[in-house]
Amino acid sequence: MTIIATGLRYDCAGRTILHPTTFKATRGERVGLVGASGSGKSTLGHILVDALQATGKRVAHVPQSPDEALDPLRSMAFHWREAEKALGQPPNPLRQSALFTALRITGGDLRKRPWGWSRGMQQRFVIAMALLGTPDLLVMDEPTSALDPVVAAQTMGLLDQTLDGTDTALLLITHDLGLAASRVTRLMVMDQGRIVEDAPTSTLLSAPQSQAARALCAHRNWLALPC
Ligand SMILES: Nc1ncnc2c1ncn2[C@@H]1O[C@H](COP(=O)(O)OP(=O)(O)OP(=O)(O)O)[C@@H](O)[C@H]1O
Ligand SMILES: [Mg+2]
Repeated sequence: MTIIATGLRYDCAGRTILHPTTFKATRGERVGLVGASGSGKSTLGHILVDALQATGKRVAHVPQSPDEALDPLRSMAFHWREAEKALGQPPNPLRQSALFTALRITGGDLRKRPWGWSRGMQQRFVIAMALLGTPDLLVMDEPTSALDPVVAAQTMGLLDQTLDGTDTALLLITHDLGLAASRVTRLMVMDQGRIVEDAPTSTLLSAPQSQAARALCAHRNWLALPC
């Protein structure tokens, strides 16, 4: 199934945060959305999720902050049950245990509320909830921002394994061009509320066209400097 959403747009307080945008992804495609802070990546993620859900598409969303996904007054067990119910799944302790083991959150006490878990654990819990079903599109907004590099790499590896062989398309929103480069086949670059470039990952990295893409690629080279 090709996923298409057109006319995505967001205005706030008289300011256009997201200019009219179209998003397309083919079945199982892995797409990255990169751009400077404040360019509108998370806004596009939210508007896209709302638009697709309104048309009956199954979309899982890992928001940039676990606070957006977790109710501070509810236990972690409550959140897990709600995720299963939303997907029409009966409680499945084995599946839960497999996901918790893979994401290294087996030590978390499900009776606690979110503040009883570290931010990194909360983030991995939200990723585990997103991996419970088989959505048409998985939108992950900075999914590893609260994780140390080792756990971040493990988490992305698990994501690859989970998505391999499924029809779930991925939209990976990140500041980290290096992370996106190794995980997606197409990159979209956002600048001031507009997609200014959309190209296969290797093309974009080797010959960025827009100023925003060139700036991101230059930044990646700075990180490679030995100092
Ligand atoms: N509800 C709102 N009211 C006012 N401004 C908003 C609102 N939501 C977003 N913005 C503004 O929209 C712009 C885009 O924000 P957004 O969070 O989408 O950027 P981003 O690319 O995800 O940034 P980051 O990389 O820092 O997460 C920012 O300038 C932000 O201040
Ligand atoms: Mg953001």
